[in-house]
Amino acid sequence: MDAEAIHLFLQTADPAGHVGDIKISAAALMNPSVDRLLKDTGVRNLWVECRSGESSDFLQRLRILSEAYCCFPIIGDVPLLASMVKDDAGIGRIVLKGCEAAGFVSGETTLALYAAAKEMLRASTKSLDILIWGGVATPEAAAALLSTGAAGIVFESVHWLTDLVEIDERQREQLARLRTDSTSLVGLELQVPCRLFNKGNSVAFKKLQAFEDSLCAAEIADENRRAFVNQAQATAIHPLDSHFTQNELIPLGVEAAFAASFAERYGNATEQAVKAFMAEIRELCIAAGTKKDCFLNSPLAREMGIKYPFIQGAMSWITDVPEFASAMSDAGGLPAIALGQMDAETCDRKLGRLAEVMGGRPYALNIVALAENPYRDAQLAWIKKHRPRFVWIAGGDVSPIKELLQCGIGVVYIAPDDALLKLALNAGVRYVACEGYEAGGHVGQHSTLTLAQMVLDLKRRQPALFKDCRVILAGGIYNRETAFIASLLGADAIQMGTAYLATREAVETGALTALYQRVIVESPPGGTVISGQSTGLRVRSLRTPRIAAVLALEREFAAGHQDEQTFRKNMEVMTAGSLFVAVKGVDRRTGQTLDEETCRERGQFMTGSCAGLISKVQTLADFHRELAEGPLVLHQPFVETPSSKVGRRAVVHKDSYERIAITGMSVVNAIGKSPEEVWAASLAMKSGVSLVPSSRWNHDLFYDPRPRITDKTSCRVGAFVDFDISRTELGIPPQDFRTMTAATKLTMWLAQKALHASGILDSNIPRERIAVLISQNSGEAAGTLTGMIIRAYVQDILTSIRRAIPLTPEQESAVEREIKSGRMAPDDTTLLGRLNCTAAGFICNRYGFRGPSYSVSAACATSLVAIYSAIQMIRNGIIDAAIVGGGEENLTPLHFMEFSAVGALYGLSGRSRLPHEASCPFDAERDGMVLGEGGGMIVIERESLAKERGAPIHAVITSMGASNNNLGMVESSSVTQEIAIRSSFRGAPYGPEAVDLVECHGTSTRQGDGE
Ligand SMILES: Cc1cc2nc3c(=O)[nH]c(=O)nc-3n(C[C@H](O)[C@H](O)[C@H](O)COP(=O)(O)O)c2cc1C
Repeated sequence: MDAEAIHLFLQTADPAGHVGDIKISAAALMNPSVDRLLKDTGVRNLWVECRSGESSDFLQRLRILSEAYCCFPIIGDVPLLASMVKDDAGIGRIVLKGCEAAGFVSGETTLALYAAAKEMLRASTKSLDILIWGGVATPEAAAALLSTGAAGIVFESVHWLTDLVEIDERQREQLARLRTDSTSLVGLELQVPCRLFNKGNSVAFKKLQAFEDSLCAAEIADENRRAFVNQAQATAIHPLDSHFTQNELIPLGVEAAFAASFAERYGNATEQAVKAFMAEIRELCIAAGTKKDCFLNSPLAREMGIKYPFIQGAMSWITDVPEFASAMSDAGGLPAIALGQMDAETCDRKLGRLAEVMGGRPYALNIVALAENPYRDAQLAWIKKHRPRFVWIAGGDVSPIKELLQCGIGVVYIAPDDALLKLALNAGVRYVACEGYEAGGHVGQHSTLTLAQMVLDLKRRQPALFKDCRVILAGGIYNRETAFIASLLGADAIQMGTAYLATREAVETGALTALYQRVIVESPPGGTVISGQSTGLRVRSLRTPRIAAVLALEREFAAGHQDEQTFRKNMEVMTAGSLFVAVKGVDRRTGQTLDEETCRERGQFMTGSCAGLISKVQTLADFHRELAEGPLVLHQPFVETPSSKVGRRAVVHKDSYERIAITGMSVVNAIGKSPEEVWAASLAMKSGVSLVPSSRWNHDLFYDPRPRITDKTSCRVGAFVDFDISRTELGIPPQDFRTMTAATKLTMWLAQKALHASGILDSNIPRERIAVLISQNSGEAAGTLTGMIIRAYVQDILTSIRRAIPLTPEQESAVEREIKSGRMAPDDTTLLGRLNCTAAGFICNRYGFRGPSYSVSAACATSLVAIYSAIQMIRNGIIDAAIVGGGEENLTPLHFMEFSAVGALYGLSGRSRLPHEASCPFDAERDGMVLGEGGGMIVIERESLAKERGAPIHAVITSMGASNNNLGMVESSSVTQEIAIRSSFRGAPYGPEAVDLVECHGTSTRQGDGE
């Protein structure tokens, strides 16, 4: 429907404006009449189906609409995803529609898209909610995604067999009969994949496929792509309006195949079933943390005689190097060697030394058990003779299972679908490997997510079949998070191929050329393609010149421009030996070594879809350690937060243990007056430390190079800020401004900058839920009000003078007049000007904040404790946001004298250094700290709110702890520091192992830095 049609439809169908969400195409979004539609209806959430190549105008439009509505761009195209992450258009969220979903979808699987989005976000400073759409049909899958940070999941059809869904009995029966292979993708050749109902015999599907073929040519024209999309849209019928007949073109996702299990498990009553489903997801999310160490103490690894449950999948022409297998074993994994197209003699030549090199350590051989493998029987005989610990059977045929088992060989069956999986289990197999569509090399039709859920479902229905059986998942696993997701999806072990190609040993042992590895590391996300659709031997490789030519040839054939014989001959010419060229850099026929340019041109670089997400080469040991115990951030998405009651809300799950976003920042110090200036000056290694300027005071009166002389300081340097703050800028009445301390003025200035930078003043966060927490140390207000204090103590001063020199009454009056002259007298404004807490009050008055407001004092920890207090209030549901921090009072001679007296200030040793070298915390030559002026403030708020309003998120605070030393006022002790560190991890979804950087409070004192 276009925007006008949606408008009319909503006006008739929903005159009361109850519809809060609509999904429209990107083209409809560009139609200006959408504005009226949104205004006239109650629509708040706009779901927008994006296609590849959306223009910058589209992003701009989305950006404008996002200011008023919650926009959910639905993305399947990887380049579009990259540009959304780069310029999030202020939207705050993206919906990833993987190839398992219904209708027009991504060429990538849901998990591959998710991994790509996570990788892109990690590399950027952006924070976006990721919602997942496609193929999630079990609580395990939902929990795997939510606990690793997905903000929500869109379910299409898993609930369709519950009672609120209005379908007739026949439809119910048809739905209940769906299997994971009841849908197929069409449109792949034209690069507009569309998932439709097809049990292999759908006439409507075949017609559309034929139409696609007719549009194919070596080059794909945009108009042909559009024609295909239009044709599909014009003929498609919604599944719930269909009867799943052969003549209906029905967009349908894989998820529908799980509808029967869903109803069976959770009941037919929609509401209860959904609730029970959600409750199970919640339980699994809570339990996810306990699985963090699952790869460190794996029963399957023990059983297989390896350290980790990590299996290096067999890879033709790559894994037949015994030294690579040995290195894999040294690193704690299980190597599998592909026998590929080797006859017995080649097996002897290449692998004759294998057993000796492995020296009793376990390894596996991999055989393609199809009749098409001309060496199948010879290879089976070779296997029986050499008796490896394990054999991986690829290719579907289950017949060799029994004989291999009888030889005492552990058999791992690579199951492409549930029917063959059952056959293998019935044949006695104890290990099944499921390798998803995202894998490198030859691929099946199901994604890793679908296969994993298929196994979980079957396990639940037929537990006896899986007795003592172990499940291995493969396809798209390449880092800690994807490995962990696999474990939450039920994997007892994980198998990888592509990721191992990016290890140092792969090249060092000669298994792979350095070029192959470089091509992987340099490849972009979404850089792989599937070739071989037309021959039925589908292979995933990187899109290189050779593969582009193969795809063009296939399109030519599909369009009928080549007869089958010519096509097959051309294909053979193009593909024969191309993997070997890439792997070994040698022409297999002639034995000639080829240069890199030729290899790039002629080689076929088979890799999984994760190739574009791998950006570094590491050792096998490091890679295994990262997979097993690397940093992993887990989320608890189900705990309600008070923020969910505030303002307009998106329908996303809130991050439970909610992180706190920093959305505004301001800073002033001796090297800059904004975060940008300070950062640039820091990078340029600038120091703001100078001698005490004579414009401040005559420091000669106070300076004595000898340490600890009463009324003197041994320090001559400080970091001073010259900064005039105007009254009008702060909007403060003259009488208040006159008595305001410099600290309060600076705090107000900083607050103004941080608040504006965060945009929180334009938000709809209720003002009573915004707090002001000022960090200000007691007594420092004296700086500006010194005169008032001197004036107040004039009689004490006179008494002292009288004791020293007798004064006549006239002289006394003259001295008193002189002392009081020009010094401020107390009035109704001086108290407010002087108190440490009034900065918070002035800020509240100025901006209308009505949440708690107060000042915090905790010496050097003052601002951190202010943040700590604000966080406690957010966690306790008292507030949603706060402005925190403050400006310090200007330095005075008193500061110098006091800090010198406690032995903390620079100049302790009496040695002289240049001012900019004075401050050197943690240096062996450290000589005390240098005082500085300035301050900083931040705006913090619940991450969900920040995201929802599209605020800039500079960083997030995940947790905070505090403690105090009970054995002294200024000393610190490791015992109490540990208490603080421990308490900061309490309740956090990660532990100390996830910490990459530790920032310390370096005082530059002998004692402080040592502790
Ligand atoms: C270059 C290459 C060659 C492969 N050759 C075989 C093979 O001969 N037999 C097989 O069963 N699997 C083969 N695979 C699949 C791997 O064993 C492994 O299961 C797969 O790569 C896992 O997916 P990933 O690449 O996403 O990690 C191959 C994979 C690659 C990348």
